Amino acid sequence: MKVEELLKPFPIKEFHPFPRAMLGPGAWELLGPEAKKLGFNRVLVMTSGLRGSDTVEKIVGSLRYHGLEVVAYDKVESNPKDYNVMDAVALYQENQCDSFISIGGGSSHDACKGARISVAHDGRSVNEFEGFNKSENPKNPPHIAVSTTAGTGSETSWAYVITDTTTDPEKPHKYVAFDDASVATLAVDDPTLYYDCPVDYTAQCGFDVLAHASEPYVSRLNFPPSLGNALYAIRLTAENLRQATWNPQDLPGREGMMYAQYIAAQAFNSGGLGIIHSISHAVSAFYDTHHGLNNAIALPRVWAFNMPVAYRRFADIAQVMGVDTHGMTDVQAAEAALAAAIRLLRDVGIPEKFTDVKQDTYSKNRLGMGPTKLYENSPVIRGDGEDIDRITNHVLGDACTPGNAKECTFQTVRPVVDHCLNGDLDDLLS
Ligand SMILES: [Fe+2]
Repeated sequence: MKVEELLKPFPIKEFHPFPRAMLGPGAWELLGPEAKKLGFNRVLVMTSGLRGSDTVEKIVGSLRYHGLEVVAYDKVESNPKDYNVMDAVALYQENQCDSFISIGGGSSHDACKGARISVAHDGRSVNEFEGFNKSENPKNPPHIAVSTTAGTGSETSWAYVITDTTTDPEKPHKYVAFDDASVATLAVDDPTLYYDCPVDYTAQCGFDVLAHASEPYVSRLNFPPSLGNALYAIRLTAENLRQATWNPQDLPGREGMMYAQYIAAQAFNSGGLGIIHSISHAVSAFYDTHHGLNNAIALPRVWAFNMPVAYRRFADIAQVMGVDTHGMTDVQAAEAALAAAIRLLRDVGIPEKFTDVKQDTYSKNRLGMGPTKLYENSPVIRGDGEDIDRITNHVLGDACTPGNAKECTFQTVRPVVDHCLNGDLDDLLS
């Protein structure tokens, strides 16, 4: 047997690092002392601003109370762009900062991880580090990642996602970089910071968690240390997402989803992702729609696509989603898992296909900052043949695609993309 054959598909597994973490209500109040303990003096805070809440102001106030100097970059956009990263790098260098704190969801954490890698390489463009472990200098400035959503898991993962705006404007490129050097120094997941997250955003981020957990559970990487975490995160999401969405001040719901976020990210950190994420990245690249929303729309279609190679795994998912699978075959239980996911999507009010997504929820920053530079004239989601083709091609080039449960080709993935854009969910329910 040749070496190349031995290496297919994924015989050698790798466990990637997690940061130290503090989880639970009130954890944010330990930020100042923890930052001092880590040697922070002049810190660059990176955030979208979280307008409409006082979260950033109260955290910055607390940091200053504990004697830290704070420089703020509050212009991180949804689906963070390379220019967000490089503007923050310039601010960091101008002010001779020595550390980073990101406050927000995946956009703030991801932009911050990219900025740290750029700083460690004398301000080189973040886009040079697309790929797997591209850092040449692993010594980044220290970073505390403070979550205000429950979806991304970026506070504990080795992944960050950036949109490269230097490519052809007609063909924007959103990429995932996986880099052990990008892992934060300390993660803070405090459910009380999640109370102000709006209803739609809570629901969509919850489906990011469901994608983070279900993709490694069925992935061809088949990484045993990820499987238990994946199932438990699915259980927590099925049990808590409705409460977190509709009763935003309910602590058990918010806390359950915070743990689900953290645990799911630890599952995919080494267990891999799949084409729920690849489709999500592609649609964001062309339309700047929210990552969690994209995952929610893609998830039922991708589960249906992958099911024939993983009925048993999807039957397990049905169980943890609360389905009584006694007396069912694996195929029946797997189909019940899909029905449970669609029920959850409908219960939390997520649009059922991309062409149903209202334009006022994309092509602009969701937090009231106006249209982002790249998408000022974005059209509505078209869903025509050319759109399906370009999204399918972007999916096939995504770093998450090789781990997908079922091998992907243009011919097999195109109908999945078409259904995400134009199909009815009821088609998937037998
Ligand atoms: Fe994600």
